[in-house]
Amino acid sequence: MPQASDLSAEDQALVARIQSGELIEDMADFTPRYRAVLQKTLEIAAQGEVTVLTWAYTAYATAPDLGAKIAISSSIQDEVGHAHQQGMLLERFGVSMQEKAFNEDPMRYISFPIMEFPVRSYIEFVVAQALLDRAGRYTTYDIELHCSFAPYRRALKKINFEEAFHFRHGAYWTEYYWNYSEETRQAVQDAVDWIFPWGYQWYGRPDHLKSMTDQMTFSIRAWSNDTMRDKWLQSACKFADRVGFDTPTQFNEDQDRYVLNKDYPVPMVANTETHAWDWQTSTWDDMINSWKTGGPMRPSAYERLQREEWGEALW
Ligand SMILES: [Fe+2]
Ligand SMILES: [Fe+2]
Repeated sequence: MPQASDLSAEDQALVARIQSGELIEDMADFTPRYRAVLQKTLEIAAQGEVTVLTWAYTAYATAPDLGAKIAISSSIQDEVGHAHQQGMLLERFGVSMQEKAFNEDPMRYISFPIMEFPVRSYIEFVVAQALLDRAGRYTTYDIELHCSFAPYRRALKKINFEEAFHFRHGAYWTEYYWNYSEETRQAVQDAVDWIFPWGYQWYGRPDHLKSMTDQMTFSIRAWSNDTMRDKWLQSACKFADRVGFDTPTQFNEDQDRYVLNKDYPVPMVANTETHAWDWQTSTWDDMINSWKTGGPMRPSAYERLQREEWGEALW
């Protein structure tokens, strides 16, 4: 990875403009290096939105009533829109979003493995919305607030509004099921135990194991992995305390913030056969490698998406 110190004169001039508070509107102002990092960011983001579709589709079968089916369908539609919005920006770089979604090798799809584990119950779906749409939104909210390419900021306004809606929807129904019966309360806690580590690991390697990236140098984003992870942790734990479910954290009065329990084994790797965590600390390298092999629905979920077999079983 090139370091910030290797910047060419034209890159330095662009960084100086950005640091003075200017936003870049015109692609003619890009340097090749700026263009490359922005394009890569968009590719990952747009493909990530697509992977939510097949995952949410598995939740659809678990929905207890028509209202829940409508909620899932709406969130699928939102995610299609997110892929589309970012895909349209990507097309300005000469990349075909059609290609990226429908012709990409399913083993090369950029995703989070949790999107490749089928959703087992509606309670798991709403808990995942409450915790993971919350996690995803910090990534895109950072770009909306800080990205030096103005069209990307604007595209993310609607996307982030909808992501906030998803996690609030999940939060509302998580609280509902927590208070509904003993059985649903236990199901919420079980879902939290499964989903929480995905949220914690969402942002990848901690800062001390990562070099300064071009995303930060060119202000494509401003929050580091550790910053985003902490924002997520504080927000998710406040929500947990309000509702009453357990998280593997405690509130540290001196630091005035939630901290992970010392013996909580992250990073961890999920077992694709048992659909469970092994509850054993692994290395960050092992965890990142497990993202590449993915979950049990890889590659079938993307093959299905690419064949566009959406209608038959949906209704
Ligand atoms: Fe999204
Ligand atoms: Fe979402």
